[in-house]
Amino acid sequence: MNMTEIIAKKRDGATLSEAEISFFITGVVNGSIPDYQSSALLMAIYLNKMNARETTFLTRCMMESGDQIDLTKIPGIKVDKHSTGGVGDKTTLVLTPLVAACGVPVAKMTGKGLGHTGGTMDKLESFKGIRTALDQKAFIKQVKKIRLAVSGQSGNLVPADQHLYALRDVTSTVDNLSLISASIMSKKLASGADAIVLDVKVGNGGFNPNVAAARKLAKTMIRIGQQMDRQTVAVISRMDQPLGRAVGNSIEVIEAIETLKGNGPKDLVDLSLELGVQMLMLSGKFSNKVAARKLLKQQLKSGAALKMFKKFIKAQGGDVAPIMDYAQFPSAKYKLEVNAPKSGWIKRLNARTIGLGSMQLGAGRQKKSDPIDLGAGIYLHKKIGEKVTSGERLATLYTNKKKTLQEVANLMLPAWSIGTKKVTLKSVVVEVL
Ligand code: URA
Repeated sequence: MNMTEIIAKKRDGATLSEAEISFFITGVVNGSIPDYQSSALLMAIYLNKMNARETTFLTRCMMESGDQIDLTKIPGIKVDKHSTGGVGDKTTLVLTPLVAACGVPVAKMTGKGLGHTGGTMDKLESFKGIRTALDQKAFIKQVKKIRLAVSGQSGNLVPADQHLYALRDVTSTVDNLSLISASIMSKKLASGADAIVLDVKVGNGGFNPNVAAARKLAKTMIRIGQQMDRQTVAVISRMDQPLGRAVGNSIEVIEAIETLKGNGPKDLVDLSLELGVQMLMLSGKFSNKVAARKLLKQQLKSGAALKMFKKFIKAQGGDVAPIMDYAQFPSAKYKLEVNAPKSGWIKRLNARTIGLGSMQLGAGRQKKSDPIDLGAGIYLHKKIGEKVTSGERLATLYTNKKKTLQEVANLMLPAWSIGTKKVTLKSVVVEVL
């Protein structure tokens, strides 16, 4: 078997066998296949697509390309959650302590942000001293002890994806149903969860431009999960505007803490509750969605979820003082307001533009190796459906790079479309599959 023939086969629209897919993934990981051949195959897959069988083979080979975490020592059904990526998406910070406070163990592997989307690992770095890279033993020990651990992926978890994702990023081959599904599901499966809740975003802030595309991605990943004997559910949620009002790192952590204190924005609360209901149902501890929702709301109201959050930050070595005193979080030296050019109602708020702006202010990274500014970000004073008067604040930009402020402010203004008629806000949860 050789790589040139495999590339030619996919280039000509044929179906790859399991042996050919396995040959490719093995070669990617052991370095015997050069990046130019991997890139060529990725582009052939991008253009000619993979069928369902090929996608499942690809997922399995990627999953088996490195370490697989064994969570069987933790009693009970371990449910993981994964978001396809968005702007202002701090759901993991709210949801994981919330579900753990309901008595369900949560062992969450998470990632760093790239491009216009953020990552939970970066947000957690807002806590001085926190360990975001737990080894397998420490990870399992912590879940057994306090029911919750959140860690970055171990160095050798799905190495095939680490390599292929970097290549896809620079060859414009990220946006492909099979490649996205295999990338996400291989990591979830290798992370050892028994059941998976997927948060599939729809709108300009994520990968899926419309509900049909999101549904297709959700169904593909559900099918892969089921074929691997993992119960998998998908929630399709709106990402046509950022989630909540805060976009950045420490600014998002503050919004997540406020949500755990019972003062969260409606869209973030609604999504966290829906994902929480699905996680509790999959855990096997609930058979009634109404009862599951009621318990989640109780844990928010009673402060139990906030208590769990503190416990988890402390267990991972983080300084918990900023939870009660936000001034202790990393902050930005400079700020600038973006003001409304006219009066009316916000019709649209482009999530992607806001995500890119936040990245330029320093909150995100263009390349994997870029450092990030934990204090940078954007606070949105006006979102879809809200009334605004000319000159009123639309957003406040925060940064430590003074020079970028005006430039980013100019780029941000077109993110808001202001209309003359009242707009009805659609629910953040589109559907559950
Ligand atoms: N998230 C991933 O982990 N992989 C993709 O390909 C897309 C989103």
